[in-house]
Parts: sequence; C-alpha cells; structure tokens
Amino acid sequence: MRTFSLEDVMSVEEFNNEIQKRRTFAIISHPDAGKTTLTEKLLLYGGAIHLAGSIKSRKTQRHAVSDWMEIEKQRGISVTSSVLQFDYDGCRINILDTPGHQDFSEDTYRTLMAVDSAVMIIDVAKGVEAQTKKLFKVCKQRNIPIFTFVNKLDRYGKEPLELMEEIESVLGIRSYPMNWPIGIDGKYKGVYDRQKRQIELFDEDATHGQKERTSVTGDITDPQIAELLGVTAQQALAEDIELLDTAGEAFDLDKIAHGELTPMFFGSAMTNFGVQNFLEEYLKLAPPPAPRNSSAGLILPDNENFSAFVFKIQANMNPAHRDRLAFIRICSGKFERGMSVYHHKTNKMIKLSQPQQFLAQERQIIDVAYPGDIVGLFDPGVFGIGDTLCDAGHKFDFADFPVFPPEKFARVQAKDTMKRKQFVKGITQLTQEGAVQLFQQAGAGMESYIVGTVGNLQFEVLEYRLKNEYGVDILMQMQHYEVARWLVNKDGSEVTPESLRGTDRGMFVYDMKQRPVLLVNNEWALGWIVDNNPDVDLFHVPPDK
Ligand code: G4P
Repeated sequence: MRTFSLEDVMSVEEFNNEIQKRRTFAIISHPDAGKTTLTEKLLLYGGAIHLAGSIKSRKTQRHAVSDWMEIEKQRGISVTSSVLQFDYDGCRINILDTPGHQDFSEDTYRTLMAVDSAVMIIDVAKGVEAQTKKLFKVCKQRNIPIFTFVNKLDRYGKEPLELMEEIESVLGIRSYPMNWPIGIDGKYKGVYDRQKRQIELFDEDATHGQKERTSVTGDITDPQIAELLGVTAQQALAEDIELLDTAGEAFDLDKIAHGELTPMFFGSAMTNFGVQNFLEEYLKLAPPPAPRNSSAGLILPDNENFSAFVFKIQANMNPAHRDRLAFIRICSGKFERGMSVYHHKTNKMIKLSQPQQFLAQERQIIDVAYPGDIVGLFDPGVFGIGDTLCDAGHKFDFADFPVFPPEKFARVQAKDTMKRKQFVKGITQLTQEGAVQLFQQAGAGMESYIVGTVGNLQFEVLEYRLKNEYGVDILMQMQHYEVARWLVNKDGSEVTPESLRGTDRGMFVYDMKQRPVLLVNNEWALGWIVDNNPDVDLFHVPPDK
C-alpha cells in the first residue's frame, strides 16, 4: 500500500479524490463541424466564460495564417495549444483543444496522446469527414473511449441510422445512441432521450437555447406525445426506438471503456440543444486518468511519485522574450510549483518554477496539479516532445510516444548563404521541438534540407519562426511526395541508394539519425518498390521507435 510522507498534508483519500474527479479529453472533428462552438458551450455551462462568442471571435480569421499568428500574439496564449480547464458537477475538466486549422499538424495528433478520452463531433449533414477519420485512427490505436456528438441537428441532416452505418463502415466502430432525433426525412424537431424516456423539442422561436424547452416524459405511445409530434412523426419514432432496442447494439460500459463502442448523442451546439445533457452523461461515462506504460511497467495515477511527459512545445510568439512553453501531462503523483524533477533525457534535475494553467482564455500561475492535469512549463530550451519528467528516486521513461509519418515535403534552404549557421541552428531546434521532421537528400550538398510535415500549415509556421526567432529568410520548394518509408534490409545490412531497386522512382533521403528513408509520390509507387525489393523491410516510422 502506498503512503505519503509525513510532511505531506494531503491524505491518500484526498489525493485519490482529486484523481477520480478529473476528465481529460480532446474534441476531434473536421473543420466547421462545430468544435469551437461546442467547446464554448461546455465552458459556458462550466461557468468558465460568461459570454458566448469570446472564443468564437478567434475563428473568423482562422484560415489566414498570418492573421493566425497575430491572434496568437494578441491572445497571449497560443490558439494551437489551448488547454482549457473548468469544474462541473464535482468534476475537474481539462479540454485539450486540437487545432482547428484546415491544415493540421503533428501537434494535433500528439495532443491525443495526452487525453483519456475523445469527443468526436460529426456534422449531421456531412457525416464522417476526412480529418475526423485521421484523428479517430489515432484515438483508436490508443483504445481510448470515444464519444460521438452529432451536431447541427437544428438543420436538415442525414438519417440517424445512415449515420450509424457510416460510422461503422468508415471508422469501424459501432455506436450506441443515447438519444434519438425526432423528425421525418432529416427535418428534425428534437430528440428522444432513451435513458429518461423523455422527448425534448426545439424552441419554436429560435432563441439560441436561452428559453425553456418543451419536454414530455413518457412512453412513445403516449397521446400527449402524438399531439406534440403529429401522428406520423410519433409512429416513425416508435418504430426507430423499437428497432434500436431489439436489433441495436446493447449498452456495454466495458466496450465503451475500450473504445469498441461509441455512445452517440444528437444535438445542436449552436442552439445549446442537448449540450448540457451530453456533458452530464459524458462525465458519468468517461474515465478518470488512466495508467500509462513506461520502461518501469505500468504507472498508476495514484502512485505518489510525480511523473509527467511533454506532449507539446509551443514557442511564444513574442520574439523579444523567446520564451517557450512545454506542455506536460501529469501521469502520477502531485505536482507542486518549484519542485525539482528528474529529466530523463538529459539525466539532470530540473526545477519547475513557472507552471501555468489555462482557465478559459487566461493563463495563471498554479501551485498544485494532479494526474490528468495539463501544465505549461517555461522551457529554457531543454525539453523535447515525449520527454519524461519523474521523481529522482524512481527513474523511468514513458514508453509509447509515437512518431507520425510525414505526408508533405519541401526542400528548404536559407535565402542568404551567409545566414547558413543560424539556419541550421534554427531548423535543428525546431526539429527537436517536434515542429517538423528533417531529412537530407542522399548525395546532395549540405546547403538544403528536406522538411517533412503532416500538414501545410507547419511549413508556414516554420518559415515564420525561422524569420522571427532566428532572423533567417528561407527558400522553400514543395516536393510532390506523399509517402515516406524507413528502409532496412532483412539481413540487417544498410539499404543504400545503389542497393535499392527503383531509387529513381522517388527521393532517397536520410533522417537526422542517418537512417535511410525513401520518399515516393503515392501508394502505387510504393507498391512497385515493395514488389521489386523483396529483401527490404519498409516502415511507416523509424524502425527503432
Ligand atoms: P469548428 O471549430 O469545428 O471549425 O466549427 P465552428 O464551431 O466554428 O462552427 C462552424 C460553423 O458551424 C459556424 O458557422 C457555426 O456557427 C456553425 N454551427 C456550429 N454548431 C452549429 C449547430 O448546432 N447548428 C448550426 N446550424 N450551425 C452550427 P459560421 O457561419 O462559419 O460562423 P458564424 O458566422 O456562425 O460564426
């Protein structure tokens, strides 16, 4: 049994309570599905903001990168790294905002490493979209619970059964509808709550959810319900519910906990419809902080020894200060301001002196934090993505921090060759930070690099930051490759440009650890390489990760 040291004023029970009340999640969706709106409404219910619209204001300029940089500066905290915390119903909620840009970056993926569950928003009219698919895949790999919020129910949309089928066929997960839309042919009037056996209808006059709603509790065959819905809608609803109850997936908490079944909610973030109910159900079903794998085995959140990992590094956009924030997710123990922790990568002790947390849009210095919490640390340039911080007496490394294969590539060099030194320094540092992945073309000179990213926005951020933080203007030439594969001969010997058949069908490069990588245009070209090089193994990510 674990014990606390005598000087610790907190009892084990209090400590466990703090852990149990935490819910740390991210919202995943395709741009425009309603992530900003839903986040804002959740904050509104949590009392963290008082005016709807304060978060949305940032969104108007979202598609212009230069404006985005301006927003970063004005807001003081980064749009791309918003971590919002609020309390609701005895729970402490941490929402990790995944960037809402059209071109997302690896940050989006990495954020998902720090959460215990995810909320997937789907536009009722559009169904499962491309970016949702990508983000879902990352969540699925981690087997975390995924909750579905089908949004924009106030508008015309797809049939709910069609959406369920789509989710199953495209994403490979079955859903359990917690409520069910009422309406014929995609014209929705409200929802039927399957747990409460209650219907809730939209307001006739759309007052953005400020007014009381019409709701009736009772059996679907209730004449009162027929009166409200009309007989046709009532019959359609009764049939749907019967079908769900008899042929639908059974509610199974265990499957939900392992990401094998997604509780599905229908609502409308804009009109607040179904948002509070969603939040309350979510808090009941979503898990508190989960244990994490490490080199020392499973680390339980209630382990008294502090541990955390860095999942994101964000440079402040104030070039005068050059300060960087490293975002850590606390995995075990209690975090206290000023504590010294062991930094596994450098084998050094580090004092955590300026920890910050984010309440709605404001930063504040914090004194304590618990497993599940996200803390922003001042980074003097020592932290890297995936770094472990832990107790000096209990050293280990968190094991499973993934690398995501780049899908976009550009050749990058300094415009002014005299600035080469700063260029190399800047680009190396940004690579360590995890902003981009760096490669060198085989046989090419040292003056240019091949930069790999998962989204175009990362190139623009790279250009902006090299100029603003290192004073280097760059030349960038986009390359038409979309697939990178690390190469290893099956007999263990090194693959070279000469030994690989079809090297000229792509670009042969080396990563920063001198491991050979082939960049090709598409999966078809990759297939050719695979077929013609039976002695070579190809990996999505560096093989020793
Ligand atoms: P995102 O962060 O996922 O990109 O989406 P965001 O919340 O910004 O919402 C995208 C658009 O969808 C916005 O409209 C927003 O008002 C609208 N929206 C969000 N939830 C709902 C909903 O429940 N019902 C309906 N009908 N619309 C919804 P916009 O015109 O792009 O912006 P705005 O002019 O409303 O600010």
